[in-house]
Amino acid sequence: MSLVTFSSTLHKDKTVYAVAGSHTQTILALAKEHHIPIDFGCGEGDCGTCLVKVSSVDGKRRPMGGPLNVREVAVLKEMGRITQEEIDKMYVDDIPPNHWRLACQMIVRGGEDLLVEYPSK
Ligand code: FES
Repeated sequence: MSLVTFSSTLHKDKTVYAVAGSHTQTILALAKEHHIPIDFGCGEGDCGTCLVKVSSVDGKRRPMGGPLNVREVAVLKEMGRITQEEIDKMYVDDIPPNHWRLACQMIVRGGEDLLVEYPSK
């Protein structure tokens, strides 16, 4: 079980439980389930609309999360959120390179509590 806190400057923070080990539940699916208004478009990792910033609640380390998939890498690079150097390092370290993720692609893992910051319009 993990706790995921969604935070935005326009909405009250909301903390919800994520099912550990489902291996299928994305941040976006969790947000939809709990009526949290994260903006999204394609839902398939192509448009970048669902960009979020993900941190460990303890703030001491980068969240492990699932590794970035190929689509996420391509879109985040195109948006200037990750560099080729960070991508190369990610494949060596096997952890996400920084805090930027696509909510429709990031799978929630058990064992760590997350802060998900989403943009406000
Ligand atoms: Fe399009 Fe996530 S909704 S990339």
